Formats: sequence, structure tokens, C-alpha cells
Amino acid sequence: MLRIKGLTKRYRTGDLALKGIDLDVPDGEVMALIGPSGAGKSTVIRCINRLVEPTAGTVTLNDTEITTLGGAELRRARRRMGMIFQEYALVERLTVMENVLSGRLGYVGFWQSWLRKFPQGDVDEAFRLLARVGLDHMADKRADELSGGQRQRVGICRALIQNPDLLLVDEPTASLDPKTSRQIMRLIKELCAERKLLAIINIHDVCSPSGSSVCNLARSSMTARRRTSRRRS
Ligand SMILES: Nc1ncnc2c1ncn2[C@@H]1O[C@H](COP(=O)(O)OP(=O)(O)OP(=O)(O)O)[C@@H](O)[C@H]1O
Ligand SMILES: [Mg+2]
Repeated sequence: MLRIKGLTKRYRTGDLALKGIDLDVPDGEVMALIGPSGAGKSTVIRCINRLVEPTAGTVTLNDTEITTLGGAELRRARRRMGMIFQEYALVERLTVMENVLSGRLGYVGFWQSWLRKFPQGDVDEAFRLLARVGLDHMADKRADELSGGQRQRVGICRALIQNPDLLLVDEPTASLDPKTSRQIMRLIKELCAERKLLAIINIHDVCSPSGSSVCNLARSSMTARRRTSRRRS
């Protein structure tokens, strides 16, 4: 369960990006966060994992209050949060497998990772995930040789190999064509359902997945509603 209470962010520039947001996301729920450009969608995501420091309010994930953690505790909490980015954020010159395994860096010790020695269990899991997203035959390809949709699949595997409790997804399909966007959204939803993962996805309204809760940041009331009507393939 993710619980956000009174989340407020004023940037140093004076911009009030978030003003007292309250939001509860139960386990296994995929919540689509919508709203116009500048509504604060990315700020919410970044406040949850503290890439951005909230000005006020609390974020609690499974009884751990993230907003008060520091140092090692914060690093431990961040391991439980997988992130998927619009621009994929892959290391271009590394292989697909190496990019996926980089999701384990929070767990593997510094020397092991520096020597690129990952436990066999991690390598096996990376293959399983790549097979799940249809990329197992591309494990040795360099990231810069992939299409946008393939890159995002690698980004999804890298987030999932962290074995997160929560998936934070910021505009995962904004750089993709409409058909690939729908495939990627469906894949993320299926994987969340399979793993009973809690997810927050920033997405344009038109792309928001059917069957998930939708929270509109532009509305004064933050009550989430469930979208059931539209189903596209
Ligand atoms: N680092 C920053 N410094 C100052 N102001 C910022 C910063 N990041 C965002 N803002 C401001 O905070 C507000 C919310 O920005 P945010 O990026 O969260 O919006 P968004 O809903 O994700 O928009 P988009 O759909 O365009 O990605 C905007 O007014 C923006 O200008
Ligand atoms: Mg944004």
C-alpha cells in the first residue's frame, strides 16, 4: 500500500508544483496519473523516491515512511521502487543483458558489480524476464542497436529485476508510436498483475490503460476513478 498525504512541493524557483496531494494506492493496483503538462505528474513520482525532496507531506510505502529516511535506509527503500523512464535511460554501449543486470546494482556489492560478476541466479532471472518480454534472443545486442519499443522492454526488465514492491513509471510511451505504446502499456499492466505489483504511471489521458484507476492531478478532488469503458488492442 502506498499512501501519500499532504504532499507539497515548492521548487527553489518559487514554482508550487504540488499543493497538498492525498493519494492511496492499494497493493496490486495500477494507478494512472494524468493531467496537463506542468500539472506536477513527474514531481509526484520523483517525490515518492525522493529524487526530489518534498517541501511538506508524507509518503508511506508498506508502513515505511519514505519521507523521513536518510542514508542507508533510503537506499534500501529505493531498491524496493523500480523506475521506468520515457527515454529508457539505458547505457547505450552495454548489452541488453548488462543493462538488465544493472537493475541489481543496489543489491550486488561494489567490487562484484565493477568486475561485472553477477550471481548466476540474477543472470537466470534476467533471461527469464527477457523471455517474458520477447527479447531473450537479443541478450547480447548492444542497447544502441535496439528500436524504441525494444529499449523500453529492456527498461521494464531492468526495473523488474530489482524485485520492487512499487513501480514508478514516468511517461513510458511518450517516445513511441501509438501501436507500440499500446503494446508497452499492456505489457506493463500484465506484468504488474502477474507480480501483484503496485504501480503509478504518468501517462497522457488518451493512453491511460483500461481497467486501471485514474487520478487527475488537474482536478481539485484527487479521488481516483476506475476506467473501464475503453478497451483497445
Ligand atoms: N527542477 C525544477 N525546478 C523548478 N521548477 C520545476 C522543476 N521541475 C518542475 N518544475 C515546475 O513544476 C511544475 C510541475 O512540473 P512537472 O515536471 O512535475 O510537470 P508534469 O505534469 O510532469 O509535466 P509534463 O507533462 O510536461 O511532463 C511545472 O510548473 C514546472 O515548471
Ligand atoms: Mg512530466
